[in-house]
Amino acid sequence: MQKLSIQGGTRLAGEVRVAGAKNAALPILAACLLTAAPVRISNVPQLNDVRTMVKLLQRMGVAVEAHAHAVTLDARHVAEPFAPYDLVKTMRASILTLGPLVARFGEARVSLPGGCAIGERPVDLHIKGLTAMGAEIAIESGYIHAKARRLEGTRIFMDTVTVTGTENLMMAACLAQGTTVLENAAREPEVIDLARCLVAMGAKIRGHGSDVITIEGVSALFGVEHAVMPDRIEAGTFLAAAAATRGEVTLTGAPVESLDAVMEKLREAGARIEAADSTVRLSMAARPKAVSVRTAPHPGFPTDMQAQFIALNTVAEGTALVTETIFENRFMHVQELRRLGAHIDIQGNTAVVHGMEALAGATVMATDLRASASLVIAGLVADGTTVIDRIYHLDRGYEHIESRLGELGARIARVA
Ligand code: UD1
Repeated sequence: MQKLSIQGGTRLAGEVRVAGAKNAALPILAACLLTAAPVRISNVPQLNDVRTMVKLLQRMGVAVEAHAHAVTLDARHVAEPFAPYDLVKTMRASILTLGPLVARFGEARVSLPGGCAIGERPVDLHIKGLTAMGAEIAIESGYIHAKARRLEGTRIFMDTVTVTGTENLMMAACLAQGTTVLENAAREPEVIDLARCLVAMGAKIRGHGSDVITIEGVSALFGVEHAVMPDRIEAGTFLAAAAATRGEVTLTGAPVESLDAVMEKLREAGARIEAADSTVRLSMAARPKAVSVRTAPHPGFPTDMQAQFIALNTVAEGTALVTETIFENRFMHVQELRRLGAHIDIQGNTAVVHGMEALAGATVMATDLRASASLVIAGLVADGTTVIDRIYHLDRGYEHIESRLGELGARIARVA
């Protein structure tokens, strides 16, 4: 199994271009199922999750041509509207095929995702929404079996803000009869990027980016060319790493408007940040100050940046409270950070992080995607060598992390 070996103690310095957003690319790839015309998506990040989504679509019969960061998908012939357990279990976002499949083909069989390292993560709101739109849904042998002659628009209130739930129902509603109103919808930038792609395909959507999205169903969607937005979590991870190592880093092609919550907290930690157009410059002259954060749906502080901020706080001056409100079990990285000498107490859904002068390298294990990113940041600041095991989690969501950090001066290598 591959590992990352990091020699800590170098300041990150230089320039790096932000890759396309994983969490926008996945629903946008699934959206190809809504049309019989070819869809060309560019700025697609080269990640394992993207490869899994492509494999899943191919398995259904979608013709796919992939060249570097561009993917052309043709879902004219879909042999079987079926998402098998062996692929869904490796990537929960496979559930994003459910809405498009039932909307266009009137039937779908998608495996239930099952448990997850960061919490229970049910998909009940996806199912309730489709049921409200007239789908008949049965759970059979671990599969969601959905059927509908044609979905019907309706008003759907989601009692919890769900990103993929909003995306699934928004996609399904595009081909429904009549108007669907999604209330308490997710406002994440990735939902907006998907909506823009769907609108370019001929969908009639209003209100994306607010918590009420209105979709007037149409009878068919067309092909499209769409460039995926840049990844705000990857950008935030690079910025947090730069701040932790007291570095000086420039991000190009960055999603500046969607980084407000993260940049605000980094400024509070003492970083100087200049952001204009699609460039963000961060410099950190001194030891970071502890910053407390509380995760919340967008535009709040993203749960996908929580672990990286715990890592930053482990070497900060002072004590920080990091509260996780979205997922119930998202502190798996804390145990591993302690192995590097971090001083962290867990009190309910809050991590109390007491900043240390230094961490010391050790062997640690990645447990989920963003937890892995926090271990990379801690490894970059720790004295000596840190070896991170099970980095397949990192490869799900960060494109060539070792070479990109290497360009910024990190001493980091992939080892077998
Ligand atoms: C998406 C992101 C993930 C991010 C998360 C929260 C993708 C592919 N993944 O995941 O990186 O961490 O948003 O920003 O975009 N919930 C329910 N019932 C449902 C659905 C969700 O109770 O039917 C709950 C979840 O358990 C969780 C909360 O809602 O507590 C938010 O989860 P959700 O926004 O759905 O996360 P994902 O869309 O899976």
